[in-house]
Amino acid sequence: MFAASQWLPIEGWKELGVHTAPNHIKHLLCWGIGTMSITVRNQRHTYGWLSIALHWISAFVVIGLFAVGFYMTTLGYYDSLYRTLPHWHKSIGILFGILLVLRVAWRFYSKPPAVLSQHKLEALAAHGGHLLLYVMMFVVVISGYLISTADGRPIDVFSWFQIPAIELGIDQQEDIAGLIHEYVAYGLIALAILHALAAFKHYWIDKDRTLQRMLRPESPQNAHQQENTSHD
Ligand code: HEM
Repeated sequence: MFAASQWLPIEGWKELGVHTAPNHIKHLLCWGIGTMSITVRNQRHTYGWLSIALHWISAFVVIGLFAVGFYMTTLGYYDSLYRTLPHWHKSIGILFGILLVLRVAWRFYSKPPAVLSQHKLEALAAHGGHLLLYVMMFVVVISGYLISTADGRPIDVFSWFQIPAIELGIDQQEDIAGLIHEYVAYGLIALAILHALAAFKHYWIDKDRTLQRMLRPESPQNAHQQENTSHD
């Protein structure tokens, strides 16, 4: 277990007026508020818990939705999953869209740490890749919505609530949105594979903390130490 003072030194709490409290209370406060707020938000040197959770939930959902979407296209009318799987795919897709909006809002609110790279071009490629991943995720969600609502019917999300259809008056909306949905989904998976390979390159070749800081928040001391010494 890490010491709370690693994240937020006791002195830092003086400004909050808790310096008059007994030491054990200060430590408890440091541990409680310190770990919660400091590790939930992103820091200059590391991602916080919320960004990490949103990243991995998104990654699993994107891969899961792709697998289900692919499998759906192989089902025949009389297959038992013919109706169930599209219902799940659409429902999870809408929930994922909501999560994506929250994720982007959080990203603006709590800035991510700088990309760890020695080369300017590599850092630029990482930024471009991340931006493209976000754009592609949005395009896949929006085109999926446009396929499902092309006939004017709303999307029923697990029978919890409905997302209404919007009349756009686009000719062949279902077909066009279908093509975009399919090809951008393939592109998204291809880019996600490249992106994962880049993460492993950081781990095995560059030996920096890029992958580790997307697995758990790092203390500033740990990040600083590892800047000078590489992992095994
Ligand atoms: C469909 C799957 C995935 C998607 C859509 C995705 C998307 C993203 C996005 C958009 C970011 C930028 C986060 C930000 O700063 O706002 C990111 C960061 C990151 N992702 Fe993924 N990711 C996926 C899978 C993976 C996998 C499988 C790995 C590793 C094996 C991985 C490792 C990382 C790491 C290490 C970062 C931080 C990069 C840095 O600090 O420069 N991702 N991911």
